[in-house]
Amino acid sequence: MHPGGILEVITGPMFAGKTTELIKRVERQIFAKKKAALFKPSIDNRYSENEVVAHNGLRYEAFVIPTNVDGVRKMAEITRKEGYEVIGVDEVQFFPDEIVGMLEELADSGVYVIASGLNLDFKGDPFPVTKELLVRADNIIYLTAVCTVCGKPATRTQRLINGKPAPRDSPVIMVGGRESYEARCREHHIVP
Ligand code: ADP
Ligand code: TMP
Ligand code: MG
Repeated sequence: MHPGGILEVITGPMFAGKTTELIKRVERQIFAKKKAALFKPSIDNRYSENEVVAHNGLRYEAFVIPTNVDGVRKMAEITRKEGYEVIGVDEVQFFPDEIVGMLEELADSGVYVIASGLNLDFKGDPFPVTKELLVRADNIIYLTAVCTVCGKPATRTQRLINGKPAPRDSPVIMVGGRESYEARCREHHIVP
């Protein structure tokens, strides 16, 4: 069922299943005959240029949006012009602050907005955009992965450079997958 205008946030560490959950939710709305679209940031070219792709291979076609204010405007414009009733945004943490107000306006105007993204960076510090969306959300889906060291629920993301924990002064944004990141629990998350 289409829940009407709401802001839903899917969050957690890498490999938690955020993208899988986002695709599942958008696909269900398409089965319910709602006009739905997915958006993703242009900097995330890990697996595909024009699709949202999960670490397990699940994929769905998406609008590719630059991670600047113009990109945020474009997302709103596409949604309004095409009359999308449901929109999903993957990797929401990569977009500028302006996306928060924009998504909330869309939800206020009746769009079912699903934003998916990392809550914390590799240091365990919040991504400001996700943090801001989380406190404004009508519904939060908090997912955990599996710690690669002990198998317990993982709530953190370990960045590895040449197999070693990345230092605190490593840049916040570094697109990557299994070669540079691992899901870890609090105990096994290391920031030298
Ligand atoms: P996210 O977008 O949160 O990074 P995805 O939906 O892209 O997650 O991928 C989830 C998939 O990642 C799982 O279905 C599983 O196949 C795979 N995976 C790889 N490593 C792990 C891990 N440590 N814990 C859980 N799932 C993992
Ligand atoms: P994922 O949550 O779908 O697995 O993707 C997260 C993306 O974010 C991936 O490209 C790696 C990137 N990333 C950063 O840029 N900085 C970080 O601190 C972390 C943890 C991930
Ligand atoms: Mg993902």
